Amino acid sequence: MIKIRRLKQSDLKSLYKLGLEEWRGERWLTKKFLKQTMRPPGYDFVALDDKNIIGVILVEILDKPKNWIFYFVVEKKYRNKGVGNMLLKTVEKRCLKDSPLLFVDVGVDDKEGNKFYKNHGFKKQAKIKDWFGIGESGIIYSKKFNSK
Ligand SMILES: CC(C)(COP(=O)(O)OP(=O)(O)OC[C@H]1O[C@@H](n2cnc3c(N)ncnc32)[C@H](O)[C@@H]1OP(=O)(O)O)[C@@H](O)C(=O)NCCC(=O)NCCS
Repeated sequence: MIKIRRLKQSDLKSLYKLGLEEWRGERWLTKKFLKQTMRPPGYDFVALDDKNIIGVILVEILDKPKNWIFYFVVEKKYRNKGVGNMLLKTVEKRCLKDSPLLFVDVGVDDKEGNKFYKNHGFKKQAKIKDWFGIGESGIIYSKKFNSK
């Protein structure tokens, strides 16, 4: 059974390993980037199958009311089974309580990512040229929560 728990600092290695499966060779993916992103304040959770980390979501609380998904990945063999949904829902519950806006940026060509966010109620806000590097546009999505 898949379980969700809060991120621990000692999870760093597993997070990096998950990222390598998806983004090996991309310059932004470093342990330093992950360490910084794991720092509070944020909503950071991992998904576990038994003791193995098979998914992660790292959300930074930038300022009130802005939260931003900086790192979100599920191990390939566990995709399309609802793990990403469980991680996102866990974060969304916290947003609902604390602050109402969740942002994320996705590459224009990332079909899986774009479809996932649209299907989860995110609205496209902007397309920005060179967001992920020269010639690599990004799409910014946001989702609003009706918190108090
Ligand atoms: C985006 C990502 C995190 C989603 O994780 P996931 O665990 O596959 O997500 P889910 O299983 O909850 O949902 C994926 C799809 O599976 C479907 N699904 C969910 N449970 C299912 C089940 N039991 N049986 C069949 N399909 C199912 C969902 O309908 C969903 O479809 P959609 O994307 O069209 O909405 C994952 O694809 C990933 O790691 N991608 C690479 C990195 C990335 O793009 N990250 C996001 C940008 S930062």
